[in-house]
Amino acid sequence: MRRVIFNQKGGVGKSSIVCNLAAISASRGYKTLVVDLDPQGNSTQYLLGLKDEKLRHTIADFFEQSLSFNLFSKEPKDFVHKTPFANLSVMPSSPLLDELEHKLETKHKIYKLRDALKSLGSIYERIYIDTAPAMNFYTRSALIAADRCLIPFDCDAFSQRALYSIHSEIAELSEDHNRDLVIEGVVVNQFQPRVKLPQALIEELMSDGYKVLPDYLGQSVKMRESHGASKPLVYFAPEHKLTKQYEALFDRIEDVQLPLEV
Ligand SMILES: Nc1ncnc2c1ncn2[C@@H]1O[C@H](COP(=O)(O)OP(=O)(O)OP(=O)(O)O)[C@@H](O)[C@H]1O
Ligand SMILES: [Mg+2]
Repeated sequence: MRRVIFNQKGGVGKSSIVCNLAAISASRGYKTLVVDLDPQGNSTQYLLGLKDEKLRHTIADFFEQSLSFNLFSKEPKDFVHKTPFANLSVMPSSPLLDELEHKLETKHKIYKLRDALKSLGSIYERIYIDTAPAMNFYTRSALIAADRCLIPFDCDAFSQRALYSIHSEIAELSEDHNRDLVIEGVVVNQFQPRVKLPQALIEELMSDGYKVLPDYLGQSVKMRESHGASKPLVYFAPEHKLTKQYEALFDRIEDVQLPLEV
């Protein structure tokens, strides 16, 4: 299973959702990999707790290697780092992703990630991909590499508008390059049950035919604290309401019958 979390809008909860679902997956005993394709590196920071250290063997190094033929080139697994959490690994991001993007695009390396993640599928039972808030080369690579896609929605009117264009862009890309991609639905994040607007926006989405997953993620300061501690919620606050909501979301998306890796 290779799941990408994407929304072109910034700050809707992509990295939080990737890392927390991946941590729950790992805590349930699945060998789990997070692939951080955002040069901001928020997922990398969250899971590895790095401050200013420069990492070697990042996802940028993986892509750079694909630009020139080398007899001694590394395998995808050589770019994977262990996190402090059992069963949870990460292919870390790097600011170099920005510099490489143009070259990768012109040399048509759009399928490199798909090939790498397919081969890593024999080691990792669950792969979660974090993307930048942009439809760039890396996001397209991720949407081509994945077989599942979740779209976070932060209950804001601008987000609602963004969702319409995102959905059609993903559908077009899937039609052209990845017929196996299943859009699992919209994940409601930072939901405030006592405020009217979020509920009204969600109802509009549903009446427009969007599949909104019924397990809403509430708003809590615990999320920021968990980022600060570099500890996903399932380890940082296992009994917290938001953690329970994440677990319910995880159980729902796991419930779907997944095709076997080939
Ligand atoms: N359920 C939540 N409750 C409270 N705060 C949250 C919640 N989810 C995310 N946040 C906060 O919102 C901010 C944005 O979250 P996050 O970084 O996960 O979004 P993103 O979509 O990955 O952002 P970007 O587009 O910049 O990559 C962070 O400060 C995070 O702590
Ligand atoms: Mg992010």
